[in-house]
Amino acid sequence: MSKAGTKEFPACLMEKRELVEKHLEACLPREDQYPQTLHAAIRYSVMAGGKRLRPLLAIAAFEACDGEGEIIYPAAAALELVHTYSLIHDDLPCMDDDAMRRGRPTLHRKYGEAVALLAGDALHDLAFRLMAQTDSAQAVLELAEAIGTNGMLAGQMADMEAEGAPVSEDDVTFIHAHKTGKLIRGSVRIGAVLAGASEYTLESISQYGERIGLAFQIVDDILDVEGDAHTLGKSVGSDTRNAKATFPRVIGLPKSKEKANQLIEEAVDIITTAVTRPDCFVELARFIGGRQS
Ligand code: IPE
Ligand code: IPE
Ligand code: MG
Ligand code: MG
Ligand code: MG
Repeated sequence: MSKAGTKEFPACLMEKRELVEKHLEACLPREDQYPQTLHAAIRYSVMAGGKRLRPLLAIAAFEACDGEGEIIYPAAAALELVHTYSLIHDDLPCMDDDAMRRGRPTLHRKYGEAVALLAGDALHDLAFRLMAQTDSAQAVLELAEAIGTNGMLAGQMADMEAEGAPVSEDDVTFIHAHKTGKLIRGSVRIGAVLAGASEYTLESISQYGERIGLAFQIVDDILDVEGDAHTLGKSVGSDTRNAKATFPRVIGLPKSKEKANQLIEEAVDIITTAVTRPDCFVELARFIGGRQS
């Protein structure tokens, strides 16, 4: 597994990350079961590492809202599976056409486009089966809304339509808040929902999620310009090559950094007043603001 980013990762979540890995390993179909190639492809992408940020955000929210028991783990795994599906499809030649992901050749480069398409489909299906294990219809709906046509897919569609087109700061904010922000917001909401949080707490957690979600994608844009491909585990310069709508393109690098920092500090303020144990959330927000991978 790639350990990129491990050093800066919030200490409060290190152990949880191991548990997420174990749950992911256990929930994936075995490679020796038919259809072996599809199962091998799924494992190739999911078990390649990655920060596991969305599962850990859900776990942090669950714990900050005094959630008890193990029910958060299938939900956390489901979030990582939909995220991985979105990466596999995002990298396809018909979308961003990228060659590296999580320190390895992208799935379509390794197994071909048809297998990559089907592996993404399979992860989507498996994610909903896992989320259903929570017995929470609200958690299932939260996931569907986060990634549907009012969520991540709206952002991915707008991202594709904006390639090479003139875009305003409002346009790029819409794209980023949807393609990346909605699943991050959904991750913290699902943790809070499964813990039985009050409407008031859920609302504050959503506001926190929106800010770190948008900041996460702004930092992603910045790293595409300034980051190191080896540390990131993916190619840099992809956004420039595809003439993507990014914050650095629309407002420049210095203002993009300011904007990301401002969102992180707003998120920290919101969460500090919303929950009694905000420490891990604060560490996570600062990690997102300062990440190099
Ligand atoms: C990459 O997400 C795609 C974006 C939403 C920017 P991550 O940076 O969380 O990727 P992994 O899971 O760590 O590989
Ligand atoms: C990806 O955004 C968002 C989703 C996968 C939904 P990017 O296209 O910027 O992510 P990277 O840079 O390929 O990881
Ligand atoms: Mg993309
Ligand atoms: Mg991409
Ligand atoms: Mg990117």
